[in-house]
Amino acid sequence: MSKFIIKGGNRLEGEVCISGAKNAILPIFVASLMSESDCIIHNIAMLRDVEVMEQLLTSLGAKIKSEGNGTYTINSNNISHTSISEQLMRKMRASNLIIGPMLGRFGEVKIAYPGGCNIGDRPMDIHLKSFEKMGAEIYEEHGFITARAKELRGADIHFDFPSVGATENVMMAAALAEGKTIIRNAAREPEVVDLQSFLNGMGAKVQGAGTDTIRIEGQKKLGGIEHTVIPDRIETGTYMIGAAITRGDIVLDNVIVEHVEPLTAKLREAGVKIETESGKIHVKTKEQLKPIDIKTLPYPGFPTDMQPQLMALLSTIQGTSIIIETIFENRFKHVDELRRMGAKIKIDGRVAIIKGVENLSGTNTQATDLRAGAALVLAGLVASGDTVVENINYIQRGYENLPEKLRGLGAQIKTI
Ligand code: UD1
Repeated sequence: MSKFIIKGGNRLEGEVCISGAKNAILPIFVASLMSESDCIIHNIAMLRDVEVMEQLLTSLGAKIKSEGNGTYTINSNNISHTSISEQLMRKMRASNLIIGPMLGRFGEVKIAYPGGCNIGDRPMDIHLKSFEKMGAEIYEEHGFITARAKELRGADIHFDFPSVGATENVMMAAALAEGKTIIRNAAREPEVVDLQSFLNGMGAKVQGAGTDTIRIEGQKKLGGIEHTVIPDRIETGTYMIGAAITRGDIVLDNVIVEHVEPLTAKLREAGVKIETESGKIHVKTKEQLKPIDIKTLPYPGFPTDMQPQLMALLSTIQGTSIIIETIFENRFKHVDELRRMGAKIKIDGRVAIIKGVENLSGTNTQATDLRAGAALVLAGLVASGDTVVENINYIQRGYENLPEKLRGLGAQIKTI
């Protein structure tokens, strides 16, 4: 098992280029299953989750070519299977996105219950109820879900909660269903908008992504496309916090400034200096920072995927900060590890009360999920002595070349 060893104390300085968004790549890869023609996709980050998605598509019969420069060509002309092995499904939660495209194109799919990061109960009721409304029959037995539809029909669907995955899954199924679908209380995340652009490029008729109502007019067939994936706003935010926690000075390239505004606003409130121009963010911090309170919410609220990293920063700011986690019920697993480094954090249900300390100290820690792992790396950048982060396979799921990029900014981090 590989681990990171970080020697804390260096300010991050310099420039870093942000990779393609994991959470946009995954739905876009599965959407390519809906076309018989080539889908050429640029700005693909080399991530473990992307590798798993590649294996999953290949197992169904898709042909995938990678140019090695972030460009992939996916051809799903000869799909030979409609079921996915349990072993592959367990590797990644987003594998459940396969249902929409497969139902839309083949009227049938069988999957095992998906795995993924261990951040709490992640049911699929919103996805499955929606497919039923569209005329699919769903069977759940022996840990498997089978969905079948002789004819998938458009429907008017109101989500109980703006689930990102359910919005994407239903958008994809509806793109090949008979008639019109309306998704109300849809997720508004930028990755949903990127999926809409991809689908429309293939000839789908989807409008409204980015608002809470998405309208889809089903088509008989979708064609090929060439598409560039949006930059990763969570990777962007993680480096912004890297600059803030080390009181550093960095420029982030290849970003979409508006996508990180929920974080930018909170960092500015804490006293971090942030300047933006098109495609670039400059983060600079010398001053003493101030404590802040945040509540995670669906986009454009503060992202749950930035909560652990922000907690690492708040642990180093004098005074009391409060974080309320409203999206996942079990997303404070990083707290025990941060406490081992000297952080003073109390948990009461979904509320974390953080009393900033003057120094964190390096020790052995374990990543318990992707973003929790990123939080420990950030804490390690300022802790005294060496911080060891184990289970880095979680971190590699979602950060391309993390140690290389951090070393480029002056951090001392190695993988052993
Ligand atoms: C996506 C992101 C993930 C992010 C999350 C919330 C991808 C690949 N992953 O995950 O990084 O943390 O959005 O921003 O894009 N829920 C239900 N029933 C359902 C579906 C969801 O109750 O059928 C609940 C979940 O348990 C959770 C909340 O809704 O509490 C949010 O889940 P959802 O928005 O679906 O997240 P994902 O799409 O899994």
